[in-house]
Amino acid sequence: MQAMPGISLFPGKVLSSSGALGQLPSEARAFGSRGVVVYGRALGQSGGLLARLAKAPGMEMLMHAHAGGEPTLAEAESLLALARAHRADWIAGVGGGSVMDLAKSAAGLFNAAMPLSAYHDGAALEKPGIPFLAAPTTAGTGSEATPNAVLTNTVTGRKKSIRDASLVARVALLDPDLAALCPRPVIAHSGMDAITQAVEAFTSRKATSLSDALCREGLRLLAGNLESFHAVPEGGAAGAMLCGSFMAGLGLAMARLGLVHGIAHPLGARFGVPHGHVCAVALPLALELNRPAIGAKYETLGSAVGCDIIEFVEGLIRRLGIKQPFRGKPIRDREAIVRETLASGSTAANPKSVERADVEWMLDRLFQPGR
Ligand SMILES: [Fe+2]
Repeated sequence: MQAMPGISLFPGKVLSSSGALGQLPSEARAFGSRGVVVYGRALGQSGGLLARLAKAPGMEMLMHAHAGGEPTLAEAESLLALARAHRADWIAGVGGGSVMDLAKSAAGLFNAAMPLSAYHDGAALEKPGIPFLAAPTTAGTGSEATPNAVLTNTVTGRKKSIRDASLVARVALLDPDLAALCPRPVIAHSGMDAITQAVEAFTSRKATSLSDALCREGLRLLAGNLESFHAVPEGGAAGAMLCGSFMAGLGLAMARLGLVHGIAHPLGARFGVPHGHVCAVALPLALELNRPAIGAKYETLGSAVGCDIIEFVEGLIRRLGIKQPFRGKPIRDREAIVRETLASGSTAANPKSVERADVEWMLDRLFQPGR
């Protein structure tokens, strides 16, 4: 294992405190006075927070609400057109992973020559876009820490990342007051996504000493605080969850992920199940499959959560009330799901070399009839 990743990407500045969102206009001003703020339901329903942000003196900010759901290429294209028409100097995302990925893709591709779909299909970005600022309201996808934006092409049904070093946030605002606005089911799903990301990046075949340190501590914070944050979404648990999610995001940007994220995209896109929900139910299966390949790191995962890692994840899923969304359903598009999982960059980083039979086994277990 390498001590350090070949490339380490970090946001330019990280502000982490209660009320940090209030500093968004003054931080953005360094990039120019014209900006677009993309926001999700949590901020939209907060009323006062959104109004205060919109009234920042000397700024010409366009406030753009994301309708909800996982972000699509078409939504990113229309945001990009809006931001170009506004002659934006920067774009901020204040919301969950969907909002941040939408804002990040529009900022990153602001100066791109081709349609957004070309980069979604794998074309390299010719030149950087405009600065992206990120304030997560969930803990979380870690999108505020990563150089990729996940979008779904609704024509082909393909959900994948646009990835470029220039997409990393110039400013990340980790505000526990924002995370406390999050609805409970979203707290459960996004928290399980963050835990999965910490586990997969820690056990990835691309893991390094640096990503390991981030993921181990990130997992400890997430595992120790998700239940209390879910029960009472405020206070110290919110800050710990935001920090753990951010650390896991940094880790995955360095080490990539694994089979859970390889299968989560094709399954989530086809069955309309939230990303974190798919991650939660697939993680124990991936751990079972990967256990021989993980070696001593399996025990290290247990040390971070205080007991056997598979038992911990299964218990947490039960206590958070997360249901099995696929159980007993027919596996539509089975062949395409297998093909896309095997082609995924996340699957390529999985500790066990993933064969067709492994993906078939996981699908059969996820969709098996029963309780
Ligand atoms: Fe994820």
